[in-house]
Amino acid sequence: MKIRMLSASDIGAALPMSRAIELMRGVFSQLAAGKAEVPLRGRLYSEKGVTLLMPAYLQESQAMAVKLVSIYNHNAELGLPTVTATLLVLDPQTGLPQAFMEAHHLTAIRTGATGGLSADLLARKEARAVALFGAGVQARAHLEAIGVVRDVERVLIYDPVRKAADTLADEIMRRPDPPEVVIAATPKEAVSAADIVVTATTAKTPVFDGNDLRPGTHVIAIGSFSPDVQEVDATTVYRSLVVADSREACLAEAGDLIECGADVDAEIGEIINKTHPGRTSDEQITYFKTVGIAAQDAAAAAEVLKVAKEKGLGQVVDLT
Ligand SMILES: NC(=O)c1ccc[n+]([C@@H]2O[C@H](COP(=O)([O-])OP(=O)(O)OC[C@H]3O[C@@H](n4cnc5c(N)ncnc54)[C@H](O)[C@@H]3O)[C@@H](O)[C@H]2O)c1
Repeated sequence: MKIRMLSASDIGAALPMSRAIELMRGVFSQLAAGKAEVPLRGRLYSEKGVTLLMPAYLQESQAMAVKLVSIYNHNAELGLPTVTATLLVLDPQTGLPQAFMEAHHLTAIRTGATGGLSADLLARKEARAVALFGAGVQARAHLEAIGVVRDVERVLIYDPVRKAADTLADEIMRRPDPPEVVIAATPKEAVSAADIVVTATTAKTPVFDGNDLRPGTHVIAIGSFSPDVQEVDATTVYRSLVVADSREACLAEAGDLIECGADVDAEIGEIINKTHPGRTSDEQITYFKTVGIAAQDAAAAAEVLKVAKEKGLGQVVDLT
């Protein structure tokens, strides 16, 4: 029994953002059409942290995988990463393991790609200014993905850790033909000048006041994945067309929605499949909430494995 081992750099080489966005379009289309098997993620607690178990099977993509994400905050004191992720690809015909890969980078790409897909479907065509709340891994992935679907001319960064904001601003400004970059002094300064707002933070309470959103803004919220964590306030949710990656997952896990008792207007797959119209006016505020679902990982990992085989990436280990 042979298995391919793939590192973060193999994944980067195999999965460009534009391809990842198209893969996510297929994932959410299948999910909304009932062609994806995605049990709610399991949570395995120990005294020190929690491990999330995320299995999925996609019928049309013929992709099957299980991702494990461990969140162990005390690891920081040990000089170890606080979040680690790995993924096992299974052959849907036989159940045999096919590949084992690093999945933190895979998660960054598939999550950014999903945010970019939401911008493609829901942001106004002329959206040019992007506000990033949080200047971490996901902010970077989202900016890259939004850049695939819109011409980004201005980036506003808000992060209470000034060094994080400065580092990201420097990175963006070193790119060829960079957008204008502003480090916002307050959340209001960022939100009130944005066409697209991304919240990619570790905050437990709302990061901006929904009254400051301009009409027509698209909000992409990715941080909250527990009922007691509210990254986006009730005002934003009440002012918006609420779109979810998965209705079931968001109503079970997203504190943004649970804390204010809000419902989901549409799944993103319903907009892709044209069973929901999505944005209906330039003044409408749209809010896309994603808690992340294993189907994204399964599809992304299957593509990585396909390209890795073609390009000879990674190392093949015989387990027998
Ligand atoms: N929805 C999904 O599919 C998905 C996938 C991966 C990660 N996530 C979640 O997204 C969040 C961000 O992940 P990451 O890997 O970018 O983390 P990260 O640690 O790399 O970056 C988070 C940043 O948020 C900043 N921050 C904290 N409070 C803030 C506030 N009030 N306003 C603005 N910035 C603030 C931190 O200073 C940090 O720079 C995490 O909560 C993570 O669990 C969601």
